[in-house]
Amino acid sequence: MDDSTRYDRVQVILHWLIAAIVLVMLGLGLFMVELPKQSELPPGEESVRAFYFLLHKSMGITVAILIILRILWRLTHKAPPLPDTVSKWQKKAAGLVHWALYLVMIAMPASGYLQSIFSKYDTKFWGVVLPRVAEADKAMRENFTEVHEVLAFLFIALILIHLAAAIKHRWSDTGITSRMSLRQD
Ligand code: HEM
Ligand code: HEM
Repeated sequence: MDDSTRYDRVQVILHWLIAAIVLVMLGLGLFMVELPKQSELPPGEESVRAFYFLLHKSMGITVAILIILRILWRLTHKAPPLPDTVSKWQKKAAGLVHWALYLVMIAMPASGYLQSIFSKYDTKFWGVVLPRVAEADKAMRENFTEVHEVLAFLFIALILIHLAAAIKHRWSDTGITSRMSLRQD
């Protein structure tokens, strides 16, 4: 495929790396909030909740850094123009969904980090305690927890629409999906 009709190498690698981490993060988030707290367990049993929360936070901050790099790269490197075989409404819809995905990609880790700094627990990044930038505040933490949860479902809905469009293009063999493929041909 001609270089000007596909995403550049950096955009492709960041797309798939971020997509993989985001999918793991969504699963991990939904899984970990169901785990019993220490106070809900019989004496002698150790809760694994804190372990998964810490993993989720570290992975979340890591993906936030990759997302910032991706957005900076995208702002300085255009997306290849879609061919005219794609109708006007489809181009508009793709643009809208991509925009919304970028917004949620920022809002998701931001709301997670905010709920974390208002919690009574320290925020750690792969074991390193991050400086405390706010006093623990239960009401604020709960607000951001709510936002983080609502955004998670919005994120899942957007990914499903995005995935449906990708499958549709793959099926009708428009060549669109190879614009983001890891294989360079
Ligand atoms: C792309 C990044 C992220 C994704 C996709 C994500 C996804 C999720 C999901 C699906 C949940 C479960 C929501 C629920 O059902 O209540 C969750 C919970 C949570 N997330 Fe994230 N998250 C991200 C980033 C972060 C970051 C950066 C932090 C903190 C530094 C964080 C902290 C938390 C915490 C503490 C909870 C538990 C909330 C509770 O106590 O109910 N998340 N996340
Ligand atoms: C789950 C499997 C996924 C598939 C099969 C897929 C496939 C694709 C394809 C083929 C494109 C290129 C569209 C074009 O040529 O115009 C694309 C673009 C894009 N994808 Fe995905 N994707 C997936 C997951 C994700 C996830 C999880 C996210 C968000 C975290 C995401 C965010 C984006 C964005 C923002 C663009 C637009 C890039 C730009 O123009 O700046 N994708 N995706």
